[in-house]
Amino acid sequence: MKTDKTFTLTNDDTGESWTLPVLDGTEGPSVIDVRKLYADTGHFTFDPSYTSTASCKSRLTFIDGDEGVLMHRGYTIEELTDNSTFLEVAYLLLEGDLPSQKQMDDFTHNVTYHTMVHEQLHKFFTGFRRDAHPMAVMCGVVGALSAFYHDSLDIWDPKQREISAHRLIAKIPTLAAMTMKYALGQPFVYPRNDLNYAENFLHMCFALPAEPYKVSPTLAKAMDKILILHADHEQNASTSTVRLAGSSQANPFACISSGITSLWGPAHGGANQAVLAMLREIGSVDRIPEFIERAKDKDDPFRLMGFGHRVYKNYDPRAGVLKASCDEVLDELGVENEPLLEIARELEKIALQDEYFVERKLFPNVDFYSGIILKAMGFPEEMFTVLFAVGRTVGWVSQWKEMIEEPTLRIGRPRQLYTGPKKRSYVSIDKR
Ligand code: CMC
Repeated sequence: MKTDKTFTLTNDDTGESWTLPVLDGTEGPSVIDVRKLYADTGHFTFDPSYTSTASCKSRLTFIDGDEGVLMHRGYTIEELTDNSTFLEVAYLLLEGDLPSQKQMDDFTHNVTYHTMVHEQLHKFFTGFRRDAHPMAVMCGVVGALSAFYHDSLDIWDPKQREISAHRLIAKIPTLAAMTMKYALGQPFVYPRNDLNYAENFLHMCFALPAEPYKVSPTLAKAMDKILILHADHEQNASTSTVRLAGSSQANPFACISSGITSLWGPAHGGANQAVLAMLREIGSVDRIPEFIERAKDKDDPFRLMGFGHRVYKNYDPRAGVLKASCDEVLDELGVENEPLLEIARELEKIALQDEYFVERKLFPNVDFYSGIILKAMGFPEEMFTVLFAVGRTVGWVSQWKEMIEEPTLRIGRPRQLYTGPKKRSYVSIDKR
């Protein structure tokens, strides 16, 4: 971490200079340690959207955006999606290493036996309109978990932290499926502990009491892969939201609910729903050039959804895995010609050759192909971002746990560059 390298900062007006330490990670750029900058110089740093700011130390996930590499605890996302399962990746993220068979069995048991939610939580759903966006319902019901599980709210007790983590990973799919069932006007389907994580999720989403439902192994495998691909992504907006909420020592259920609200926006997790709306709006391959021109026009708010990323200046490796999965899933479902997939492929091809996108290094991201697969599986479009949240919960919880376990935990409290009025005197209303 600490190195002999330094940076020197000089005030060009006074000639004063300060030596700033440089810290190294195991991968990625070094950081200039500015923690004492204000105390030493009386200046803050200014980086409103955190383009150049490392907000924390973390051992969980590494992204090399230039090379298009994503690794969890040192394993590439391709290796994990090819060989692992979502629950194993969840263990890896939470605990730091791949589990032994015994550790895996215990973890699977613990998560599986927390899948039901308090029966009274069912009543929360009926308070929502059936046409509420499922993410609106998720913000409410996930936050409400803290009103039900009082025995795991003590964040300073490692055992309680572990139970909360297991509860969150276990209950998120149950709540997500209930959200979908509620919107459809169908009865809730209870979890089945004889099914694996992805199978059980599909079962809760698609089974009906009136007839048997058999989970397709191909779809369960695809679902599991989708969940792995969304499991963690270092300090993105929703994860940073969870960390900031958690830094005030709020309970983990409340923190994860704050992550869900942050994920909802179309610049983040909401993009998967927006991609499908965009592909539908484009409507046919011959209209693609018109939309590419609109995306380039600075006076038009239209952007290519599912394109571009703050960190990746290369193909998002998650999009690569999803693109390959698309055919497998559509084959299994007997979808021969999916017009939206045809538009997506052509749009990608045209954009990747266009100077505007090439110059700005704008590539498809994880949201570009996920919606097509999820739609083919039968998920309503409003559910897409909820599915992102189901996968990301383990990342949020693991990042929250890592932060709480730091001995130097302090509340997160950014400063600002104040640009409002200087001190002035109050004027009574009759004199204004
Ligand atoms: N379509 C057209 N132009 C774009 C796009 C796009 N999708 N994305 C970026 N640009 C342009 C942007 O106008 C800017 O151009 P210029 O330099 O001429 O002003 C340049 O590329 C850099 O963009 P930026 O907005 O400064 O980049 P950012 O890092 O702040 O934003 C982003 C990243 C993901 C919010 C943005 O690329 C975007 O809005 N993409 C579409 C929404 C999307 O797909 N979001 C999902 C992200 S991946 C999953 C997740 O994190 O949840």
